[in-house]
Amino acid sequence: MRQILVTSALPYANGHIHIGHLVEYLQTDIWVRFQKLRGHRCIYLCADDTHGTAITLRANQEGRSEEELIAEMQSSHLTDFRGFGIEFDHYGSTHSPENHHYCNQIWQALLDADLVVTREIEQLYDTEKSTFLADRFVRGTCPKCGAPNQPGDNCDRCGATYTPADLIDPISALSGTVPEVRQATHWFVQLEKLHGFLDEWTQSGTLPSESANYLKGFFLNEPLRDWDVSRPGPYFGFEIPNAQGNYWYVWFDAPIGYISTTKQWCDQHGENFDAWWHNPACEIHHFIGKDIQYFHTLFWPAMLHVAGFNLPTKVHIHGFLTVGGAKMSKSTGTFVRAAKYLEHLDPSFLRYYYATKLGSRVEDIDLNLEEFVARVNSDLIGKVVNLASRTAKFVESTGLSARYPDDGGLFESFAKQRDLIAECYEAGDFGKAMRAILELADLANPYVESHAPWQLRKDPSQADALQDVCTVALNLFRQLVIYLSPVLPDLAAKCGRLLNDPLTSWEQVATPLLGTPVAKFEHMMQRVAPEKVTAMIEESREQAPATFSNSPQSIATFDDAGDALAAAPIAAEITIDEFSKIDLRVARILAAEEIPEAKKLLKLTLSLGGTERRTVFAGIKSAYVADSLTGKLVIMVANLAPRTMKFGVSEGMVLAAGPGGSDIFLLSPDSGAQPGQRVQ
Ligand code: MSP
Ligand code: ZN
Repeated sequence: MRQILVTSALPYANGHIHIGHLVEYLQTDIWVRFQKLRGHRCIYLCADDTHGTAITLRANQEGRSEEELIAEMQSSHLTDFRGFGIEFDHYGSTHSPENHHYCNQIWQALLDADLVVTREIEQLYDTEKSTFLADRFVRGTCPKCGAPNQPGDNCDRCGATYTPADLIDPISALSGTVPEVRQATHWFVQLEKLHGFLDEWTQSGTLPSESANYLKGFFLNEPLRDWDVSRPGPYFGFEIPNAQGNYWYVWFDAPIGYISTTKQWCDQHGENFDAWWHNPACEIHHFIGKDIQYFHTLFWPAMLHVAGFNLPTKVHIHGFLTVGGAKMSKSTGTFVRAAKYLEHLDPSFLRYYYATKLGSRVEDIDLNLEEFVARVNSDLIGKVVNLASRTAKFVESTGLSARYPDDGGLFESFAKQRDLIAECYEAGDFGKAMRAILELADLANPYVESHAPWQLRKDPSQADALQDVCTVALNLFRQLVIYLSPVLPDLAAKCGRLLNDPLTSWEQVATPLLGTPVAKFEHMMQRVAPEKVTAMIEESREQAPATFSNSPQSIATFDDAGDALAAAPIAAEITIDEFSKIDLRVARILAAEEIPEAKKLLKLTLSLGGTERRTVFAGIKSAYVADSLTGKLVIMVANLAPRTMKFGVSEGMVLAAGPGGSDIFLLSPDSGAQPGQRVQ
């Protein structure tokens, strides 16, 4: 029996759980349930990540304390997780005495190993609020690309990282005043002193090969930079001992939450903490997204190594969720909160759909809503649940046969797949596991069809045959459900109740269930109605603040000057026929890319619906950040003759108003319009 401690990344307490997060928490939950089913000792731990400036900013905005905010968020996160059947053994918080304790302990170890240095750095200071401003408390123009209104740590537009002092025209988010540059002391961890250890550890098979290979280059090329782990107050976090007024940066105390949560669980269950974090026989598995790799593959192992804790056995790294091929977005309604999903759809659907998409590689996964509906309806309902719903009622009164009937070897061949399917789960290759299971379902269904129990039941002399056919069908169903049970715990519970035998172990697939009573058939799963999906997306759509429909201003308050019209008088009259030669269409921006050499142009990939795509070079770079356009609906001239430009062929034009520079305004239809619709 293995002893396995599993974690997911600790979600930030400054926001709600959405379907992107769920890629990770569902993946981890499935893996943990699989390990438990296999009889291993496995615990699944997580916590809220509660510290840092983002929490303070949000609490200030909402006019309440950080403690109030994080308490409410924690309970909201837990409700969402429970709703999706994500079952933690314990869920903690980084704002806990235990976490403070382990922060102190690990910090002391870093000091003892002579890895900590202090250095004066230039930092912005808000003279009105008499405080240094940490990263996200400052906004200004990106020093790399010139994007306005960027936070103090990295640019949302070009991704550059910098310090707040590098920002052009910085403004304090606390007071709105212009901050001044002052010197401040920061505490740094000298990672370069651990170069050899980290190089070896990252190449030891702990990481997916893509990540390991990437880091290999990283180690060859340059010394590791010192890691800045302190922030001057005010800062919501733990104060660093003997460093009055300075706090640990949130990314220092966050992963320590894995340890402190284990400690809380141990104290609650009378377990020995050392058996988990000071025991080479205990495996530690972290599940994380690709955006937080550095913290888990450099800083975190360094801290554990120096302080003498177990090192992670494996860091499982997944990619990001896209919806319909594009980044989740509030304006298109694809930024769906967990709670919103649950108002409309069964959590089993998403558990299954994500499972079909997850592999062991670090790849983004795409939620395609049509495929989602089709998969669930054809696989889960059509091939799995149907086996039971078409047969269980015929054996309600008799129960299962006492001897296993001849099924042409189906049961045996299903049981034989158990090692292969287990390997897929173990490797995180859930997609492959789902395919193997569905192939079995494809063998079970023809059995039921060819033996037609619904015919047998019409002939009383066939009663035994009917019982046998249903016994086979229900046993095959049960095998499939055992294989699926890490993904579909609800279905597994229902199957257990139906056949009066709870599913508790992987090995149950090897022995048929015989002679047991069969309960009255309860509905197992409803088909997905596509309208439910549409409603969920519609309700997730958040309008940009300045659109027609929610502008509450009355006409009388507008004061529209005549300058624009005067600058460009109305053109000569045309006929309706002339107008209708221009084919205007609604189009969705699928991608917007910067062309570094082009001053004015952005390259847009437009969708007219289905597979119709157009490339358009639009002179809107001075007014729009490329990333902000993804998903937006615009109006295009679709029948304009293609034009060869320096950077490629432009296949149309998007409509915009305004004189130019930062005053360019794209036209977009009211919500509800569909790509491809003609504008007339
Ligand atoms: N608080 C940090 C983690 C600290 S771990 C010591 C954090 N929180 S988060 O709420 O932003 O993200 C939590 C996890 O969800 C991360 O692993 C992140 O990669 C994952 N995801 C967040 N959005 C995601 C998608 N859109 N798609 C897939 N995973 C995503 O990072
Ligand atoms: Zn930038």
